[in-house]
Amino acid sequence: MTEIAIIVLAAGMGTRMKSNLPKVLHKVAGRSMLGHVLSAAALLRPERVVVVHGPDADAVKKETEKFIPHARFAEQTERKGTGHAVLAAQKMLADFSGITLVLYGDVPLTQTVSLEKLVAKISGKHAMAVLGFHAANPQGYGRLILTQQETIVAIREELDADADERRITLCNSGIIAITNAVLWKLLPEVKPNNKKGEIYLTDLVELCHNAKHMVGLEICSEDETQGVNDRLQLSEIEGKLQTRYRKRAMEQGATLVDPATTYFSADTKIGTDVIIEPNVFFGPGVEIGNNVMIHANCHFEGAKVHDGAKLGPFARLRAESEIGPKAHIGNFVEVKKTRVGAGAKANHLAYLGDGIVGDGSNIGAGTIFCNYDGYEKHFTDIGENVFVGSNSALVAPVRIGSGANIAAGSVITKDVPADALALVRAPLEIKAGWAKAYRAVKAKRKAQKTKDNK
Ligand code: UD1
Ligand code: MG
Repeated sequence: MTEIAIIVLAAGMGTRMKSNLPKVLHKVAGRSMLGHVLSAAALLRPERVVVVHGPDADAVKKETEKFIPHARFAEQTERKGTGHAVLAAQKMLADFSGITLVLYGDVPLTQTVSLEKLVAKISGKHAMAVLGFHAANPQGYGRLILTQQETIVAIREELDADADERRITLCNSGIIAITNAVLWKLLPEVKPNNKKGEIYLTDLVELCHNAKHMVGLEICSEDETQGVNDRLQLSEIEGKLQTRYRKRAMEQGATLVDPATTYFSADTKIGTDVIIEPNVFFGPGVEIGNNVMIHANCHFEGAKVHDGAKLGPFARLRAESEIGPKAHIGNFVEVKKTRVGAGAKANHLAYLGDGIVGDGSNIGAGTIFCNYDGYEKHFTDIGENVFVGSNSALVAPVRIGSGANIAAGSVITKDVPADALALVRAPLEIKAGWAKAYRAVKAKRKAQKTKDNK
């Protein structure tokens, strides 16, 4: 099989984003645009990936390495056009002999299958292939000029196109595949002979044609080619990704009671027979097993939920939380960095942070793991089948042995042995008739005051 190299153009300034963050690092569906492009690229198993970045690229490099650990980087110091940007990667690919695919870091919706088909167009006859689309409104895009069907002879940018060419609605997505040999032979010949005075990658098509190399066409849906220049377009991409992920979850066996109010991240994993009620948000890093019931209004990120668990309504699972099989996490319960065992329950109003709850334990309403002393986080270790009474504060570090019982309202500051009762309570006093006498005194005083004021 021919080896693939991928160049990702990510040097865009993104001025219209009005942001300090490089444009390609803005997130959609919990993942940076660059991350979306790189994860689609990774599925092609490229031999090499080069990201072309602008100045101050530390954040771009860090993000890239999350998806492609061995990626290489090339800096484009001045923005002189798409061809100029690709030239910046030449040194990194000089010794490569396969097919090079050029992607844009701000076009996150392209599907791997479209890229695969594009690469497959390269054959003996075709040295280059362009991913095109039929534009509802072609304004601003490069138009594909075909002589014979499926063979492109030139790409004309809007500014340089004549009236006839502007009527063409078959447009350039910007994504191309080309044999590395032809790329580095012809790209240095591209001249900035256009209204913008830039080195256009698209001019390669005409050079290929003149050199008797055929240029193939692969067509994808317009949606897949949408790029982002401002935050409005970012939100449009978000919407399209959500539609895609909702459909995927339903196809894989989850019931979404109101799909439009379920929000996924690119990496959300959902099992079968999961029911998701309205208004549920999945941040990055969530994995849900099978037969899980998710009631309305939940917020999850970085959590693993095992089969048969019940969550919500109004549950919040934060980073590194793990909910065991058939466990229940109920309303207004927040779980962070805590493993909740099989069949354990925390049904109402609790904070479980930095701890472990053993299998079958019951955490009463209002229980708090006091994990933070103002400087450091501490661990709460609850054994199996422990009963923690309502409104208990467990001051970490603390360990509760299996089978222990914590009386309601206790503040636990010491380890509790297995099967013990721990009870912290001031003695209860009962004064017979006190309340009735109190009411009488108060009522009399109030009546006197009203009289004096008249
Ligand atoms: C480009 C194509 C056009 C196509 C359109 C699709 C060219 C000449 N034109 O036009 O045919 O229809 O995309 O959206 O290629 N970039 C750099 N460095 C540069 C210039 C651009 O890294 O010096 C990056 C941008 O950040 C962006 C991509 O290349 O990710 C495309 O650049 P952009 O300026 O948006 O090109 P268009 O004029 O839209
Ligand atoms: Mg553009």
